[in-house]
Amino acid sequence: MSTARLAERVAIVTGGGNGLGAECARVLASQGAHVVVVDIDSDAAREVAVSVTASGVQSLAVACDVSSEEQVKDMVEQVKSRFGRIDILHNNAAVLSVDQRQRDRDICNLDMQAWDRAIAVNLRGAVLCSKYAIAVMLERKAGSVIFATSGLGMQGDMSLTGYACSKAALMMLPRSIAAQYGKQGIRANAVQIGLAPADNAHGSMPPELLDIIRDNHLTPELGTPRQIADVVAFLASDESSFITGTTLVADGGFSSHTPSLVAMRALFEKMGRSGM
Ligand SMILES: NC(=O)c1ccc[n+]([C@@H]2O[C@H](COP(=O)([O-])OP(=O)(O)OC[C@H]3O[C@@H](n4cnc5c(N)ncnc54)[C@H](O)[C@@H]3O)[C@@H](O)[C@H]2O)c1
Repeated sequence: MSTARLAERVAIVTGGGNGLGAECARVLASQGAHVVVVDIDSDAAREVAVSVTASGVQSLAVACDVSSEEQVKDMVEQVKSRFGRIDILHNNAAVLSVDQRQRDRDICNLDMQAWDRAIAVNLRGAVLCSKYAIAVMLERKAGSVIFATSGLGMQGDMSLTGYACSKAALMMLPRSIAAQYGKQGIRANAVQIGLAPADNAHGSMPPELLDIIRDNHLTPELGTPRQIADVVAFLASDESSFITGTTLVADGGFSSHTPSLVAMRALFEKMGRSGM
């Protein structure tokens, strides 16, 4: 029998077909979990599901729009009939297409369809997956539910109003779930993710923008999908068994410093005190 820390566990990763979700699927599998890759993009889900079997685990790809109650209910039934249990749910799916980001703007210019879609996928989707997956977790009185949130759910910014509000709600949801089901063995936590673009996403962001964001990190570099997936695997594992109802910040210190830090650093450098 495998001694990997997630051996025999069954993990669902929503939005697992691309980006951080795909990396989470790979890392959970490398630690012994059987992985269900759920995505609206069925080809991507299938590709990731096939690739994780290289770790010697089983996998299942499910095409599912997480904003649809019918589809989520059906997805969880497929997982239950294939594996008989659910131990880990990572609510990672979010609508982040270029078109969505261009319409989810500041409040006066907000396209209400983009607002509705952000709430439907990012928030309602996470609620629906939790609703149906936790019912299965309760049968074994154990489970870890994880939510992918963002600094934009904590701090104001110029645009992405719907995205930000959906992510703010994802910091409340684990507290509700932890309070409601903690005594029955269910833990729930969020990860507040800093900028951790997949390799192929760097090119889609202007270098000036990346420089501004990098300057505001307290680490030498931006994050990587692997760094985020390692935090998710920790929250999924028994090593985090005393952590519930909280948001773990994995953002390279982006949200930890004074708003004036970058300007101060530049000023000190100009004054010849770069050793600060
Ligand atoms: N990458 C980052 O730097 C970063 C920073 C902060 C937060 N996050 C959060 O991490 C998560 C993953 O981000 P990413 O950058 O990998 O995004 P991504 O766009 O690369 O991946 C999102 C995945 O969700 C899927 N998806 C979209 N709508 C769906 C739906 N209705 N039903 C099912 N699946 C759907 C997409 O097909 C895609 O595979 C998101 O929740 C995002 O808000 C990411």
